[in-house]
Amino acid sequence: MIISASTDYRAAAQRKLPPFLFHYIDGGAYAEYTLRRNVEDLAEIALRQRVLKNMSELSLETRLFDETLSMPVALAPVGLTGMYARRGEVQAAQAAAAKGIPFTLSTVSVCPIEEVAPTLDRPMWFQLYVLKDRGFMKSVLERAKAAGVTTLVFTVDMPTPGARYRDAHSGMSGPNAAARRILQAVTHPAWAWDVGLFGRPHDLGNISTYRGHPTSLSDYIGWLSANFDPSISWKDLEWIREFWQGPMVIKGILDPNDAKDAVKFGADGIVVSNHGGRQLDGVLSSARALPDIADAVKGNLKILADSGIRNGLDVVRMLALGADAVMLGRAFVYALAAAGGAGVSNLLDLIEKEMRVAMILTGAKSISEISADLLVRELPPIQPEPGKKSDQAA
Ligand code: FNR
Ligand code: LAC
Repeated sequence: MIISASTDYRAAAQRKLPPFLFHYIDGGAYAEYTLRRNVEDLAEIALRQRVLKNMSELSLETRLFDETLSMPVALAPVGLTGMYARRGEVQAAQAAAAKGIPFTLSTVSVCPIEEVAPTLDRPMWFQLYVLKDRGFMKSVLERAKAAGVTTLVFTVDMPTPGARYRDAHSGMSGPNAAARRILQAVTHPAWAWDVGLFGRPHDLGNISTYRGHPTSLSDYIGWLSANFDPSISWKDLEWIREFWQGPMVIKGILDPNDAKDAVKFGADGIVVSNHGGRQLDGVLSSARALPDIADAVKGNLKILADSGIRNGLDVVRMLALGADAVMLGRAFVYALAAAGGAGVSNLLDLIEKEMRVAMILTGAKSISEISADLLVRELPPIQPEPGKKSDQAA
């Protein structure tokens, strides 16, 4: 069933990428229940259709952290993006800048800050993970500042990587992983040529720059587990606050109490997110978590949301549920893997068109007019997955 361009791009990405990379992108934690609910809960939200309101003048523009965005969308930080297309972070960032929206570089990107930022005609956002080596954090923040990064996205829902069983099966981790990855590369020649051969160096560019030597990707998942710091707490954020004068956004909030703590801390924004269903399976979808969080903190800081957004209609749904803007994760990554920067540009154009259709047919002339008034159906109470109960009983 085709529900959006990202469905087509996902299929094309699956054909092109070695399976270990496709499943790393596509997969989630445990049984992937939250991953599915992210998409399905959004799809269930119905908007109220309104007509005959002279919708010839429409504005999608929005202001966020002293920036003008052509639409309320940013590209989410995604690790290893440079493995999905040749120097993929540069390609995706340029497509975002051309569209007039922010790109967020992940801590665990392939291309370092210094490779991406100078190619853009707008400031980049940078996402920070807390590594056990605090010297890295200090140095990377200084480098981000020097490169003109404005907004810092501090991700707090990955004190340790989630249990992702696809990675163990696909060759991303697990027995004989390195040999299996080579075999997969050989059987995906378009990728092997374009990215495997000409997309080098393949390492964690930000970390290699700090350490002064390449960081091997051969045990990436093991590296994340060994280097991410589970001791992270609000205190670390205060330490970072001293270092970072620009806007600070806390990514990975799913509970109204944590959102209130973010306000107390003085954050400029939060990202309501369950990390695309990649961390704690069974937690609420973002679409379900968002309205209560918006009730608790809307107006005190900017609310971004991600997880499950696949098209422009989903963007409008998230805004109606209380977000000020959204982030795209897999949606842009599938397009990038399938068709490079041109794929990302095409996807962003389609998202804009889909947003326009939704706004015209709900009578919302501007982003600020997209509110809960547009919702005709909220989500029904949480149900067990269809079929799951009887499966278990059998
Ligand atoms: C991510 N995400 C992520 N988040 C982050 O803060 N830093 C990171 O390095 C990564 N890496 C990463 C890799 C891959 C392959 C994926 C799919 C996701 C999470 C990302 O920013 C975002 O929260 C989710 O992707 C949103 O869910 P959807 O839209 O992909 O369903
Ligand atoms: C992930 C990390 C890198 O989701 O954020 O794989």
